[in-house]
Amino acid sequence: MLGSGHPALAEITKYYFLHPSKQVRPVIVLLLSQATNGLGSDWSKKLWEAECEGAGGRAEELDLPLSRPDVLNDWNPNMPGKTNIFTDTQFPLQPSTRHRPSIPLYDQQTPITPGLHSSILPTQLRLAQIVEMLHTASLLHDDVIDESALRRGAPSAPASYGNKLSVLGGNFVLGRASAALSRLGDPEVTELIASVISNLVEGEILQTKDVKLEGSSSTAGQRRQDAWNIYLHKTYLKTASLMAKGARSAVVLGGCRDGDVWKEMAYAYGRNIGIAFQLVDDVLDYEHASSTLGKPAGADLQLGLTTGPALYAWEEYPEMGELIERKFEQPGDVERARDIVLRSSGVQRTRELAQAYSDKAKEVLQVLPDSDAKASLEALTERVIGRKS
Ligand code: FPP
Ligand code: MG
Repeated sequence: MLGSGHPALAEITKYYFLHPSKQVRPVIVLLLSQATNGLGSDWSKKLWEAECEGAGGRAEELDLPLSRPDVLNDWNPNMPGKTNIFTDTQFPLQPSTRHRPSIPLYDQQTPITPGLHSSILPTQLRLAQIVEMLHTASLLHDDVIDESALRRGAPSAPASYGNKLSVLGGNFVLGRASAALSRLGDPEVTELIASVISNLVEGEILQTKDVKLEGSSSTAGQRRQDAWNIYLHKTYLKTASLMAKGARSAVVLGGCRDGDVWKEMAYAYGRNIGIAFQLVDDVLDYEHASSTLGKPAGADLQLGLTTGPALYAWEEYPEMGELIERKFEQPGDVERARDIVLRSSGVQRTRELAQAYSDKAKEVLQVLPDSDAKASLEALTERVIGRKS
């Protein structure tokens, strides 16, 4: 899915996959699939699609382009026979030859006994890959915006290949992920995942928004509340949306319909664990030295970003308000803010808030029947809190 006939593009798109992330997002997709498959109203149909030639859900069919390869014109040497090298100069009007098996009729006469199936469908495995592609594409952009020299202890993509290639490479990955998404054949999932791309961008924009403290008649308490609302909204958009909508998409691909509780459970799980994950990330930014995180400690303050620990510290040290308002821009601001945060209970209270979101994620799982996948999803809520990097 990442191959390109252009060597530089082929290299940068694979770069972050060769230093893999924690892969939390695909793990959530796969475990929720396993924990719910067999329970949804349309499970029989989804299983049939995964097994029946031409129904579109078999692994090999997810690689087959929907358009004729010569029309799609994807220059990808990793997919011989399924892509076209752009050498034709003539475009004769010829009837197309069939390049996909014909679509069979669904035989509704063979329903499957309801109950947990503990499997993963090829569409759900592909969704897990797509979700990781979106995450990686966002990091290729993020490291340009944050001017990060390091990612996971290695030179970042912009440091190795430059800003332009990073942005272009990120967009290329998004294009390939979108094509793979359309081949899943589910408009609801396409809509959910497409909206995540908008959410990631909105989250990033919201993160750069100034926290306005002056010129209004509101009290300091109200202004802090506004700042909290922006921060939590941004946290959902930037981090939790991909987990929440990826989780919801997984169970939709498993045949869960509106009205099936599993869809709401999956979304709530992803949303809560996603917010907990980012809150812990924001805490680690204050707790760790650069060697552990693979990036400089205190990077958020350096970028002018106010996160949970600083917002809590503001309650105990009113002078924090001024520093937040001017985005820690004046000489000594970053050091002062860091000192205030570390003297306050901000880090501890942010951890407690993360724990509350993580507990909520665990709680919503209780509607599920017991399974190994459910136990792993529960364990994941604890791992997210306990992580050190
Ligand atoms: C990491 O945050 C970044 C994200 C979770 C999302 C970034 C989103 C964008 C840059 C918008 C553009 C996205 C697309 C798909 C076009 P961080 O900087 O807090 O974490 P880090 O320490 O890992 O860099
Ligand atoms: Mg960053």
